[in-house]
Amino acid sequence: MTAKDIIEKYISFFEKRGHKRIPNASLVPENDPTTLFTSSGMQPLVPYLLGEPHPSGKRLVNVQNSFRAQDIDEIGDNRHTTFFRMLGNWSLDDYFKKEQLPWFFELLTKELGLSPKKLYVTVFEGNKDVPKDSESANIWKEIFESVGLDPKERISYYGVDKNWWSRAGVPENMPANEPGGPDSEVFYDFGTPHDKKFGEKCHPNCNCGRFLEIGNSVFMEYQKQKDGSFKKLPQKNVDFGGGLERLLAAVENKSDMFQTSLFSPIIKAIGQHTDATYKNHSKQIRIIADHFIAGILIASNGVSPSNKEQGYILRRLLRRGFENLHNLGGNNIVPIVESIIDQYKETDPNLVKNFEKVKYTILEEEKAYLETLENAKSFIRKKYGTRVGGELKGVVEISAQDAFQLYSTHGLFPTQIENLGFIFDKQAFAQEMEKHQELSRKGSGQKFKGGLADHSEKTIMGHTATHLMHQAIRDILGNHVYQTGSNITTKRIRFDFNYDKKLTDDEIKKVEDTVNEKINENLKVHFEMMPLKKAKEIGAIGLFDEKYQENVKVYFIGDYSKEFCGGPHVDFTSKLKQFKIIKQDNIGKGQRRLYSIAG
Ligand code: ALA
Repeated sequence: MTAKDIIEKYISFFEKRGHKRIPNASLVPENDPTTLFTSSGMQPLVPYLLGEPHPSGKRLVNVQNSFRAQDIDEIGDNRHTTFFRMLGNWSLDDYFKKEQLPWFFELLTKELGLSPKKLYVTVFEGNKDVPKDSESANIWKEIFESVGLDPKERISYYGVDKNWWSRAGVPENMPANEPGGPDSEVFYDFGTPHDKKFGEKCHPNCNCGRFLEIGNSVFMEYQKQKDGSFKKLPQKNVDFGGGLERLLAAVENKSDMFQTSLFSPIIKAIGQHTDATYKNHSKQIRIIADHFIAGILIASNGVSPSNKEQGYILRRLLRRGFENLHNLGGNNIVPIVESIIDQYKETDPNLVKNFEKVKYTILEEEKAYLETLENAKSFIRKKYGTRVGGELKGVVEISAQDAFQLYSTHGLFPTQIENLGFIFDKQAFAQEMEKHQELSRKGSGQKFKGGLADHSEKTIMGHTATHLMHQAIRDILGNHVYQTGSNITTKRIRFDFNYDKKLTDDEIKKVEDTVNEKINENLKVHFEMMPLKKAKEIGAIGLFDEKYQENVKVYFIGDYSKEFCGGPHVDFTSKLKQFKIIKQDNIGKGQRRLYSIAG
């Protein structure tokens, strides 16, 4: 059974149970520069999990390309990858635990042929806000008893760090209005010996590599409140995610995911084009495979390496990949890129179309990386060279601040700095890094939340204001102008659009006046579900993803604006009170950014 077979079996299993397939959202969210990457199937579905009706109904299924930058440092073990494909199914206030858990078990044992004896599950043990998930435990008990297995040995309880899921992680990290809930995970037992380095006794969440998590059913029925407490959402949701690569490892009973039929041709190509063997250098070879797979998928979405946002992550992946490749004596990335595209082209056909472009991006970045190494050496030579007679000889001790500068401005990682022959105070470097990470943490707090920073009243008002502004900008600048992104917080609205000139004071005033006029007219805001074809016919604006999408949701503001959108919005425009543009910026690539406030 190949990765593609698993996808097909999964989708058809859930289609037979009334689910509609929804498209794989872009890995780099197209209309939303506030979140760097799509990292789970539920990410584009948040408004629907909070209660907005979905145009495809209450039962959804898909396979979603996902990337998790936060896992980058874990790469090298037998089961972590930064890029993965998530099989997802959702119930939006429809079925719940008693359908989801038996279905997933049936899928694993009947469709994918896994032995029930290999499966272990975990459920939420409860905390002060949310009770123990005895309902899931009882469902699992019946399931295991029905196949003659002792439930006591199969079911384990964990707390919020393992059996709670939200986009922000544990409950205390969740911002107000964020949805989340207890989850139940299924683990596959490879039966490999326990390594006591990871604790006295082995258990499903042990990191020794014996157990692999292969699916997570989140029962998303809670919402964090402003005062930190939890309230039930008006609807009960199931948000399921299963890693395709991990399911394949279980199906093929390969405790090392990188030895499955999906990865092994890539691992082989790396072995052939370096001086290393997988046995002796598995960690570096896994890093090379992971980073170039993710790099290729990201680059094929149109991202180029740079020093910010998605481009920075791509640069980091490729440079770390090259560092490991060069260390293992590899100097030809092309056959490795070819082997990756070969493995992924069946499910991502546009990789073939983009092959030359992706190859060029990767080769250019290798050149830029090698140049960086030279620049870093000359930076240090200039600063420290005189102390060793004008030339750098042997190992040179540099300050932690300079090491950090090599990291932050030359893009070199600590190991790369050391490989150049520079040593530095690691503790002081870690302190510099801590300061830096604090700033990025702050940034990513903003980033993960999607176009709307939260679902507060003020943010929802900002969302309706973007629709009015979008239409007003097109009325004033022309219909070739369209929104390219937005980010809305309680403090301000950020709106990007394709326009390569500075807006004049007169144009700014016209946009403001038009939006304020529509606010004063107190227009009704409502949505209609309609076939995609009809939405186009009536001239609704927005991004249409045509794959699998029969019905779409269109928001109307009176008869002034019609826009393809998931919501949510205010019900009448007078709620916005007043609209004002406070700043404009040129953000490059022929795009402008307006900051404004409403309310
Ligand atoms: N959203 C859940 C996850 O990513 C299913 O694990």
